[in-house]
Amino acid sequence: RGATSSGVWRYKELIFDLPDDQIVTRQEGNTRLYDAGKAGVYAGLRHFQLKHEGENPTGSFKDRGMTCGTTAARFYGAKTVACASTGNTSASMASYAAVSGLSSVIFIPEGKIAYGKLAQALAFGGKTLQIRGNFDDAMALVQQVCHELNIYLLNSINPFRIEGQKAIGFEVLQQLDWQVPDWFVIPGGNLGNNTALSKGMKELYDLGIIDKIPRIAVIQAAGSAPLYKMWKNHTPYEAVKNPETIATAIKIGNPVSWEKSLRGLEWCNGVVESVTEQEIMDAKAMVDAAGIGAEPASCCSVAGAKKLVDAGVIDPEAHVVGILTGNVLKDPDAVIGYHKDELFDHYGIRGTYANKPQVIDAT
Ligand code: F0G
Repeated sequence: RGATSSGVWRYKELIFDLPDDQIVTRQEGNTRLYDAGKAGVYAGLRHFQLKHEGENPTGSFKDRGMTCGTTAARFYGAKTVACASTGNTSASMASYAAVSGLSSVIFIPEGKIAYGKLAQALAFGGKTLQIRGNFDDAMALVQQVCHELNIYLLNSINPFRIEGQKAIGFEVLQQLDWQVPDWFVIPGGNLGNNTALSKGMKELYDLGIIDKIPRIAVIQAAGSAPLYKMWKNHTPYEAVKNPETIATAIKIGNPVSWEKSLRGLEWCNGVVESVTEQEIMDAKAMVDAAGIGAEPASCCSVAGAKKLVDAGVIDPEAHVVGILTGNVLKDPDAVIGYHKDELFDHYGIRGTYANKPQVIDAT
């Protein structure tokens, strides 16, 4: 029951070594690793696989961090947990808090998160505060509130979140019989997940469990790309003031983990790339049409892989694993807008590969 069948706690000696009866789990992880199919052809890769973290209990990779974060909250005797979120963190936290008997408080940017995620936060009983401002404002506010009211903060600034998310990489390697891919490609928002991936790989390497270092490509949406800007221009870090993107999960201008992220990328000889709104949504159409499906932010992995292949950075023969971070059902508005081929004026996106619905009069 519980911890032994979790795709996170299976590796607990490398994560957080607690007795099973102290663990809060929904048997997260154990997600599939798909051949990318059409999305691989689209990216120009012969060996492209997609790790579908949208198949977690609440539909995103956040569950791997949250099982660990809520376990830590209980371990340290917290009663209330909180987070700022673009949606998935809040959905996950509200669920794990409900499972473990903790109260949860959620700070979300008003009107700026996908409907599926807001629905989950409300359904699981999270106290939901809609903040007038963007995610970065909500993040600053929740840090202040947690500090003043002694509430346990469960954003990825919390090290236990990062520890749990290391298991994405561990599980991919186990699925590949411990063969290390040449590249991981992963979306970047608040920059916790790629930090977790590189930290996990470094630990396996230092322990001698793997003897090859996979390169990591972090992909940001062009309108929310502070890490990409500093990387490309060799300039000091500067937050983006008004982040924009249809991939609302990663609409973040001042990511809390940018320094850790950079340290990991330096270790693995990684790269940072940015993708346009159109590139994200066209890549998403391919992931969806491959029968796999994922939310917009996730598809940065495929859009970014294509761009890096086209630029000659990733070899078309390389073995590449893209991380799909969230479920296709999280953001139905983005899907339907694209396939109805309605120009998203605000984002300048067209349904290039639209599967237009037909209207038939049956009256
Ligand atoms: N993909 C999805 C679907 C996400 O929800 C997020 C982050 C990311 C990628 C980026 O991961 O922040 O570790 O770089 N969502 C957070 C949230 C910010 O509040 O749900 P990251």
